Amino acid sequence: MSRIQDQVKEYFSFELTHVDKNSKARAGVIRTPNGDIPTPVFMPVGTHGAVKALQPSVLEDMDTKIILSNTYHLHLSPGSDLIKKAGGLHKWMNWPRPILTDSGGFQVFSLQKKAIKEEGAEFRDQKGKSILLSPETSIEIQQNLGSDIMMAFDECIPYPASKKYTKDSIDRTHRWLDRCISSWTNPKQALFGIIQGSTYDEYRSECAEELIKRDLPGYAIGGVSVGEGPELMEKIVTYTAPLMPVDKPRYVMGVGNPEDLLMIWENGIDMSDCIIPTKFARGGTLFTNRGKIRIKHKNYRRDFYPIDPNCDCYTCKNFTRSYVKHLFDSNEILGAILATAHNIAFYKSLAERAREAILENRFTEFKKEFLENYNSSKN
Ligand code: GUN
Ligand code: ZN
Repeated sequence: MSRIQDQVKEYFSFELTHVDKNSKARAGVIRTPNGDIPTPVFMPVGTHGAVKALQPSVLEDMDTKIILSNTYHLHLSPGSDLIKKAGGLHKWMNWPRPILTDSGGFQVFSLQKKAIKEEGAEFRDQKGKSILLSPETSIEIQQNLGSDIMMAFDECIPYPASKKYTKDSIDRTHRWLDRCISSWTNPKQALFGIIQGSTYDEYRSECAEELIKRDLPGYAIGGVSVGEGPELMEKIVTYTAPLMPVDKPRYVMGVGNPEDLLMIWENGIDMSDCIIPTKFARGGTLFTNRGKIRIKHKNYRRDFYPIDPNCDCYTCKNFTRSYVKHLFDSNEILGAILATAHNIAFYKSLAERAREAILENRFTEFKKEFLENYNSSKN
């Protein structure tokens, strides 16, 4: 029997289509058993097996290629055995396209009370019951869910972290990765490794090198967007991206706003996810090519333009700012629905326009032009 790393190659691959001639930005295609994903791609977040406020048919109408869901949340409720019984996450939530599941490493990091041990991360659920999430349980849960891409169980190192803490943590994350690989049995699900190392170049290098030895189908940069600020984040991504294999997908986890996306794409990153477009939408913050707007502001009361006149989403084609503001003012659930649909369409369009620009070797100009408009705030 061949190694799982070789078996997975039958079901999962990455094609590097083109590298921009004047930057490191790249366009490619990720092939999975549930569909192909042109890159760069932004993945909407569906933490509990639902992208908040959007039914799957709406995501399909927008031609969303892949969504992210979470091991940690689905493990706590309703449990992955139940989802397995229902036929897996795709079937249960009626989303037939690719799904990436995060391992729980980040959610555990966000908890106040937890204990990181060699065995795994221990914490208490809402009822006070002790729960251990380990490399083995994380992979078991992700295999029960049946996601197309599983993430390795890692420790997302908090910022700031000492060198000693960082070194001990990445050593443990490497041991955890070997346990993840030993638990990985389904070749229809790809496993990605996550590069940690906090803000230290030497540890980012060491971690990348250790992960690459394991010959995984893809690699991610983790431990960014944890309070280090945009300059340090850019420094980490600029340093780490070139260490990642050219022929595998490169993913930056938990990023970001439009400026961050342009920065990571310019550095040759292919994938990212973030709660920003969905979360901001529910709070009434909408993205446009001329910057963010706060739709609840009184200025929009009699504004009969679409959210973004250059957007061709359902919300922009059919409703005015005035109406969407009214929905928020009256606490109508439709406000969150229309706002989320627009923000997800905006992020999707940004990634698609970036891809076209890369294919035509004009990514740098595209980025400059986008940011000029985005920062002009003529709303
Ligand atoms: N989501 C955002 N950052 C991280 C990370 O470092 N690890 C994991 N597992 N998920 C993340
Ligand atoms: Zn729109």
